[in-house]
Amino acid sequence: MAASRIDTLVILGAGGDLTSRLLLPGLASLLGSSRGTGIRLLGVDRGSMTDAAWKRKVAKAFSGTDAKLAEKVRESSSYLRADVTDPDDLQRVLDAATGRTALYFALPPAVTVMACETLARMRLPAGIVLAVEKPFGTDLASARSLNRLLQMIVPEEQVFRVDHFLGKSTVLNLIGMRFANRIFEPLLSAQNVAHVEIRIEEELGLESRAGYYDRAGALVDMIQSHLLLILALATMEPPATVGSEDLRGAMAQVLRATRPWAKDGTASRRARYTGGTIGRRKLPAYSTEEGVDPSRKTETLAEMTVAIDNWRWAGVPFLLRSGKAIGEARQEVVFTFRDVPHLPTGFEGPSRQAQLRVGIRPAILSLDLVTNGREDPFDLEWDSLDAEFGPSELSAYGEVLAELLEGDPTLSVRGDIAEECWRIVEPVLAAWRRDAVPLDTYPAGSRGPSAWR
Ligand code: BG6
Repeated sequence: MAASRIDTLVILGAGGDLTSRLLLPGLASLLGSSRGTGIRLLGVDRGSMTDAAWKRKVAKAFSGTDAKLAEKVRESSSYLRADVTDPDDLQRVLDAATGRTALYFALPPAVTVMACETLARMRLPAGIVLAVEKPFGTDLASARSLNRLLQMIVPEEQVFRVDHFLGKSTVLNLIGMRFANRIFEPLLSAQNVAHVEIRIEEELGLESRAGYYDRAGALVDMIQSHLLLILALATMEPPATVGSEDLRGAMAQVLRATRPWAKDGTASRRARYTGGTIGRRKLPAYSTEEGVDPSRKTETLAEMTVAIDNWRWAGVPFLLRSGKAIGEARQEVVFTFRDVPHLPTGFEGPSRQAQLRVGIRPAILSLDLVTNGREDPFDLEWDSLDAEFGPSELSAYGEVLAELLEGDPTLSVRGDIAEECWRIVEPVLAAWRRDAVPLDTYPAGSRGPSAWR
């Protein structure tokens, strides 16, 4: 089906937290931007929300945008009470949508699967797009069976697996920086790079999300999805175009070559936070938070090292690290370069290796340079070239929604990519299940367990 715009966006799970916290604000960011166009919004949920209450919810999310726009979206939106696992109810939803339709599953994963099983038995309008939120499955086997189920309903180009990190302009900067500049790309290979770190740390703690997070943990919540996609963008071969097949093909190719550094999953570390303070905020120990079952041993900080078995990256360790309740949280990709082959004798060398930092938050680029010392020219010093990336017009969700509504799957996680990401983390999850890696602790607000430094 040639890409054409979506006319009706149906949000299944309209009463939920995801809809009000991320989806509607993302939509407001998009529609309020130069890329915004008209859209009919249909909210669907099991609860008995009135049309007026739904319209108020929509208006609240759009309150920061142009008043005319807010009114237009509010006016054209409506609410439908329906059980999305019931074929008659789903038929009513489809009948209420006009033009090309996207069904956005803002629902718990198990309910999404049940709704898809129902859809698989129905006749659907041509061109319908199914937008599925992360987590995409709970392991490799369930991701595979969800993919098979989705394939029975629509072709892959009509499935949109949402990962909002692919909508972050700072993440997409990685490919702009790599493939639109002549100076970086030739350096980024095992010949010059000693090791790479990808870290996405957050100051936020659990934020009342125990129901989901306590069963996921940092490895599944962040590394399995967001960090592996960042890894793919940071390491893939240059694609011929940034169209959906070339870009996602190049991402899939490098992920297929990626594996845990130790095959048994033990090149990994895990920890969870105890009570502590971040800025002025006091955080209770994770294990005492409401809804947490401490015996599950859920980690809030995860690290794993991966290898990429291809010509460009063989032998280079990639450390992926993500955690919550971290003080001085950093979000960046850091390439650390090897030493020069020979430093001319007589120079007093700098003490560490040079790095290229691509900051995701804050959005900066920083390249270390060794220069002659100011006092003694033979005593080398560090300098750095720094640049700030400009802010983007759209929020990450806004960017992903823009592509979804344009009918373009470029920023959708392709089915095989979602499966590769599970394959890569599974040995680590298995090692943790058999307690081959200890669960350490760190005070909330610290940089992680002191022994890890
Ligand atoms: C989500 C995770 O996917 O990403 C959260 O489930 C995490 O745990 C969030 O906090 C981070 O995204 P952002 O855009 O706030 O950096």
